[in-house]
Amino acid sequence: ITDMERKKYVIIMAAGSGTRMGAGRPKQFLELDGKAILQKTMEVFLNACPGISVITVLPQDFIGYWREYCLENNFVCPQILVPGGITRFHSVRNALDRVPDGALVAVHDGVRPLVSEELVRDMFREAENVQALIPVTPCVETMKVLENKDGKLVSIPGAKADRSVLYGAQTPQIFHSEILKESYAMPYDTSFTDDASVVEKYGKSLSYIVGERLNIKITTQDDLLLARAILSLKGQDYSL
Ligand code: C5P
Repeated sequence: ITDMERKKYVIIMAAGSGTRMGAGRPKQFLELDGKAILQKTMEVFLNACPGISVITVLPQDFIGYWREYCLENNFVCPQILVPGGITRFHSVRNALDRVPDGALVAVHDGVRPLVSEELVRDMFREAENVQALIPVTPCVETMKVLENKDGKLVSIPGAKADRSVLYGAQTPQIFHSEILKESYAMPYDTSFTDDASVVEKYGKSLSYIVGERLNIKITTQDDLLLARAILSLKGQDYSL
């Protein structure tokens, strides 16, 4: 006899101000393939897991804007809208107030629209069995440990990064909701750069799955160009 499946939630993080893009609006609202990046991101989850409960975290000033956008573009998605906080940590914490214990909760960056439905489905399946599931990709470039001295990058003597043990963490990161909520009850710490780092500090062990190279976080103008290029080629056979 197997346990009942946990109910699925996704928290879509879109409360950043997007200052690195240099556009008039936060990047999650910029257009990709004729739709807001945020809509494209949400559609991956809605297609992968019909019936999933969606919580969208937005800048307070853009909650009205997003409601209007969904109406005007006939984007029908039941979603709980939550205002963000001062950092991503505070934004996630606001959203977790709306998530019950005993569920599976994915936390995903609203600016990662290229994650595949397949990875989302695979991860939700695997997350039933582990407390925290984190997608990672191996580091392909040689990493340098540097510091910025008066605008000039210089080596930190003796500091070396061994590429063979370095991986980049992506989203979605999926958790048993009671674990994530307990973890986020801790006080904020500047070392919290993703949800996994919060859960690990709380003392829980993390499980990993191989992520996707094309699941990029659209942060700069170049990323937007890359995303457009990837989308225009998707579905084409690029095997050797
Ligand atoms: O700034 P960063 O690259 O870490 O942002 C990752 C994601 O977190 C983005 O989707 C952004 O909108 C979101 N975020 C948020 N609340 C903040 C800061 C960032 O929801 N205060």
